[in-house]
Amino acid sequence: MSRRARPEPLRARIARRLGLTPTTQEIVEEWLDEAVPAAGGAAALDAGCGRLSLLKPLKPRLARFTGVDIHPPAKPLPWLDEFAVADLCRDTDAFPPGTFDVALSNFTVEHFADPVAAFRTVGAWLRPNGWLVITTVNRRHPFVNLYLSIPAGIRDRVQPLVKRSAADAHPLVGACNTPARIREGLAAAGYGEIEVVTTSHLSRAWGRTWPTWLLGLAGDLVTHPFPGRRSTIVARARRMEA
Ligand SMILES: C[S@@+](CC[C@H](N)C(=O)[O-])C[C@H]1O[C@@H](n2cnc3c(N)ncnc32)[C@H](O)[C@@H]1O
Repeated sequence: MSRRARPEPLRARIARRLGLTPTTQEIVEEWLDEAVPAAGGAAALDAGCGRLSLLKPLKPRLARFTGVDIHPPAKPLPWLDEFAVADLCRDTDAFPPGTFDVALSNFTVEHFADPVAAFRTVGAWLRPNGWLVITTVNRRHPFVNLYLSIPAGIRDRVQPLVKRSAADAHPLVGACNTPARIREGLAAAGYGEIEVVTTSHLSRAWGRTWPTWLLGLAGDLVTHPFPGRRSTIVARARRMEA
């Protein structure tokens, strides 16, 4: 898969020049590339699909591309073959067991009321040995922790300022948001072959304005030498045989 088909925006290029790599997107794309059989014919799920998908470039290798989200999309998502509304923490019956070869859940876990229940739900929809790839925020980064700890009423006003788009601002919970808790949560939900890494992603996530980008960049540069403190968790895990 080509990693950077289009030239990166200036702010992203600066972050790259400053050594804030690999990016979250690069790791996710590499892991999805490994998870989706090159021969084609796979069924993929974007769990908490919002309005973007890092699975899109793999569409030629997918026989079935499904999105699920707690809300219907504001605009149609033309890359999907099907879409379902479901709360991943509760609606376990949205798809039959063993439907998908691979599932992506990108920047969703911080929004889940019960992340382990959501991991279990998606795990049941995966075929044995199917991969789940997730990304989420890391509370061990001081800015992330502060952001998640401020009262919801204040955060709701700040969130649209720092997010890349106001449409990306969703209610936050942050119940399972350290690398150790993600690993434990995936294991508790029955996954194996768990791999957890971290990335410095704040400047990319908060790149909506120059001031918020600069704040994110400072937060990334200070924590980048300490992997456990980087802003973002990227994990993959395999559904084990029953
Ligand atoms: C920050 S957005 C990320 C969207 C998309 N995955 C992306 O990469 O741009 C989080 C998404 O998770 C969805 N979401 C939050 N809680 C959910 C739940 N319990 N079940 C299903 N989707 C949920 C939200 O509606 C939203 O679309």
